[in-house]
Amino acid sequence: MPPRLLLPFVIMIHALPVLSDDDLPQAARRRRAPVSEVPQDFGLSYDPARSHARVLSDGFGRFHTYLRISLIEHCNLRCRYCMPEEGLDWTPDEHLLTNAEIVRLARLFVAEGVTKIRLTGGEPLLRPGVEAIAEAIGALPGLQTLAITTNGLLLPKKLDRIRAAGVNLLNVSLDTLRPDRFEEITRRQGFDLVVKAIDMAVARGYDPVKVNAVVMAGFNDDELPDFVAWTRDRPVEVRFIEFMPFDGNRWDDGRLVSYEQMLERIRAHFPLERLQDGPNDTSKTYRVPGHRGRIGFITSMTTPFCEGCNRLRITADGHLKVCLFGSAEVSLRDAMRGGATDDELREIISAAVGRKRARHAGMYNLAEMKNRPMITIGG
Ligand code: GTP
Ligand code: 5AD
Ligand code: SF4
Repeated sequence: MPPRLLLPFVIMIHALPVLSDDDLPQAARRRRAPVSEVPQDFGLSYDPARSHARVLSDGFGRFHTYLRISLIEHCNLRCRYCMPEEGLDWTPDEHLLTNAEIVRLARLFVAEGVTKIRLTGGEPLLRPGVEAIAEAIGALPGLQTLAITTNGLLLPKKLDRIRAAGVNLLNVSLDTLRPDRFEEITRRQGFDLVVKAIDMAVARGYDPVKVNAVVMAGFNDDELPDFVAWTRDRPVEVRFIEFMPFDGNRWDDGRLVSYEQMLERIRAHFPLERLQDGPNDTSKTYRVPGHRGRIGFITSMTTPFCEGCNRLRITADGHLKVCLFGSAEVSLRDAMRGGATDDELREIISAAVGRKRARHAGMYNLAEMKNRPMITIGG
């Protein structure tokens, strides 16, 4: 497709692959970081020619094999760190991808080398027809991992069907082990159901079930040792996530508990043994000797892991997002609805991936930059 025709599909594209200080708002440039970010050069070097190697290669030589597809913006919880308190203007249904469009994109990405697809939301299990979508994606030849990140509320109802569809990795969000706190953090009830969902997934053989806990100072950081104790007899991997800024979630570094602080607090109660991570893992994994489960830390803020990034995202409204923290988006939905062929889609995707930057801009800059609310990205 000639570049001219790509223009309608391209939204807010940054031409430069590496963020410079000039891109940042004044306030962000002036700010001094009170919580230290580990300086990361990553040793990545940019060469535009590399992005032409394959459709899903970027200019830093990273090849993207992991696609996160958001199925829906809505959620049945209202987690404070995710959902803006004032609510959201939800995208009308007709602007969301249809099942057929989702499966078409999944097929195309898998044909280009994606081996892992994660279904996200909002809450993905709220999407009508999620089972049929999982079945169609689970049947794609070449796909090795079909994963879901869910808040667990609908899992007891849907687990058997999605498991049969080929979902072989389950991540469940749970930020507290105290029922009263669950309601404070999520603004809804449901603690018992989520714990039931995790137990059920364990009973069905998911090993480990990953449990995501966003750690926030003054909310749940006093539960770090309780969560670690919880892994003694369960094949779960509890991942403690540094609180990240997104539109409408009132991020401030006073609420952030850093990787280093978490480690220090846990080490006061438990011995920790570092495990080997995969090259593209989001998490730094540890075990407590004698525990059946493990723990991990997702350190996006203080110790980013962008050098191993193999992830791309499609939002529920059909935009390709090449970085969780980048505002650059391309509407694959508009391209498809405008009649784009698979070859034309490949060109659009390849160009967008080729513009991916080396890393995110650092937490203080991210807090000032425009992005979507997390609930409309899907993590
Ligand atoms: P696994 O595939 O099981 O390792 O899970 P995952 O960490 O890729 O996905 P999950 O949906 O469980 O997300 C857990 C946390 O990691 C969330 O807070 C995500 O926002 C964060 N996360 C996932 N992918 C990325 C990424 O590419 N960059 C950053 N900075 N954070 C990410
Ligand atoms: N910071 C860190 N993690 C977040 N998640 C949602 N919002 C945030 C945030 N602001 C996590 C959820 C879910 C995953 C997809 O993203 O806990 O497990
Ligand atoms: Fe990848 Fe962006 Fe996440 Fe870094 S911040 S790991 S580049 S998605």
